[in-house]
Amino acid sequence: MLIKFFMPLFIIFMFLVLFYNFSDAKITGPCVNCHTMHNSQNNAAMATYGADSKPWKGSGVNPTLVRGNCLGCHGIGTSKIVNIGGSDVPQVYHADASGDLAGGNFAYITGTKGSGASDRKGHNVYELNNGPDPLFNNTVIPGGFKGSGHRSIIITNLSCCVEEGCHGKRMEMSGITNLYAMKGTHHKNPDISKLDVADQVYNSYRFLTGVKGFENNGTYKWQNKDASSHNEYFGTTTPPIYNYSGGCINSCHSANGLRSVNNTISGFCGTCHGNFHTLSGGYYGNDAGIGSTNHSPFQRHPTDIVLPSTGEYAGYTAYSIEAPVARITVPDAISSIVSPGSDIVMCLSCHASHASNYPSMLRWDYTAMVAGGGGSGGCFTCHTQKK
Ligand code: HEC
Ligand code: HEC
Ligand code: HEC
Ligand code: HEC
Ligand code: HEC
Repeated sequence: MLIKFFMPLFIIFMFLVLFYNFSDAKITGPCVNCHTMHNSQNNAAMATYGADSKPWKGSGVNPTLVRGNCLGCHGIGTSKIVNIGGSDVPQVYHADASGDLAGGNFAYITGTKGSGASDRKGHNVYELNNGPDPLFNNTVIPGGFKGSGHRSIIITNLSCCVEEGCHGKRMEMSGITNLYAMKGTHHKNPDISKLDVADQVYNSYRFLTGVKGFENNGTYKWQNKDASSHNEYFGTTTPPIYNYSGGCINSCHSANGLRSVNNTISGFCGTCHGNFHTLSGGYYGNDAGIGSTNHSPFQRHPTDIVLPSTGEYAGYTAYSIEAPVARITVPDAISSIVSPGSDIVMCLSCHASHASNYPSMLRWDYTAMVAGGGGSGGCFTCHTQKK
């Protein structure tokens, strides 16, 4: 009797366990959709653009036996999400009129979308085949390290991954291309939103090593759709000082490569634009950074500081995807509320991360931010009494 009663329950339980494990892997679908074993079928290359009627970009063999490079899977369609044989793939280069994913859209740089081509609209990664931003050509990164040890992160070789890029393992890998830096991420991508460990590439926010955060999942996965459906970013109340004695040499560079030293998204941007994030002193000197403390007056616009609960800042209480804030703990759920006194200003409060339709990769048109002009959004989202 007992066995009869419990057996169905047990089967359901086992099914749930199996099902759970299955759905844990983000990649779904036949291997052949994405991989090629020998880069040869009927004596023709499989990892070339258009081969086998598949819209992959790139040519020649790829590490981890995939059939295209990053844009081969992430820049192939006219819509912001494309399904490759059963797996949804987020797109970062497309002309979808219904909007972009949270990271922005490289198509604004080339003019495939938006008000016209401009290198000033975003990160000119070499995968775009568009050449570097001439304004910054062959110099160090704006706000970047000037030391010879950091020579390799110059404008000409900014890329999606590896040492000069953003995603995956950011370390010197001689002769090694992008997909090695990503090895072990895609199939292991956890099927949970809250990522507050971030000690490996695969469990970091969007495969950005060391970055904690909350990824919007479900219907609006990868999107900042509106006040109640968006990613949640991680921030802290004081930016770090980037220096040797403070341990940056050890904590910036880890066994998993260069990483956000304080686990925040602004700290991630600071791995290249450190001068715009750090407190003054340290590696960059005293005229660098936001100032010597985390309170006003500042010498550069602060990030990783608390939005004050007093004055004009107290007026920002309904979350705006036009000027999002970060949270001091990775939340369990998305919130549509902003809490001055604990929420955090971050680089992404004003900037996109890949590219936007505006100069300096801003989230809005800076020329429309006119004090006393009755405007809204953008800077006015926080500086509520300057409109
Ligand atoms: C063969 C196809 C393919 C290639 C090549 C590929 N990706 Fe992906 N990528 C996917 C798929 C499918 C997903 C969605 C499933 C997932 O999240 O693992 C994805 C998801 C991602 C995500 C989002 C993860 C998240 O948090 O939701 C990032 C970031 C990413 N890829 C970066 C890259 C980079 C950088 C490269 C180049 C080095 C690359 N991918 C190459 C197929 C590919
Ligand atoms: C791997 C290094 C690297 C990281 C990490 C990085 N950037 Fe950049 N960034 C660059 C380089 C190089 C340039 C100059 C070349 C260009 O604009 O294409 C640049 C340019 C910019 C510009 C100016 C764009 C223009 O043309 O006016 C902005 C704004 C910017 N980055 C913001 C950010 C933000 C925000 C983050 C974090 C989400 C970030 N960056 C992370 C390397 C990096
Ligand atoms: C929707 C696209 C997609 C499908 C389907 C897919 N893979 Fe992958 N796989 C990738 C991408 C992208 C990478 C390279 C980057 C990485 O490791 O995250 C990869 C990497 C790998 C790796 C090396 C890294 C690791 O995680 O061990 C192995 C092994 C692998 N795949 C095996 C398979 C097998 C076996 C299948 C079929 C059962 C399969 N893949 C189906 C996209 C896919
Ligand atoms: C996400 C909220 C947010 C947005 C958006 C924002 N700011 Fe700020 N801003 C702050 C906070 C917080 C401070 C510091 C307030 C304090 O601690 O007194 C600040 C300070 C300033 C200061 C004074 C610095 C000082 O020394 O006290 C200026 C000037 C400023 N912001 C201009 C701008 C402009 C221009 C824009 C639009 C390009 C903008 N801000 C967008 C939150 C924001
Ligand atoms: C309050 C809004 C705001 C915040 C926060 C902010 N920026 Fe900016 N950023 C701007 C504006 C506006 C510009 C255009 C130039 C200017 O007016 O200073 C700009 C320009 C830039 C540039 C281009 C500089 C050049 O030489 O042309 C880079 C790079 C940049 N920001 C990176 C960052 C990084 C990294 C962070 C976080 C550490 C950050 N920004 C935080 C508003 C912001």
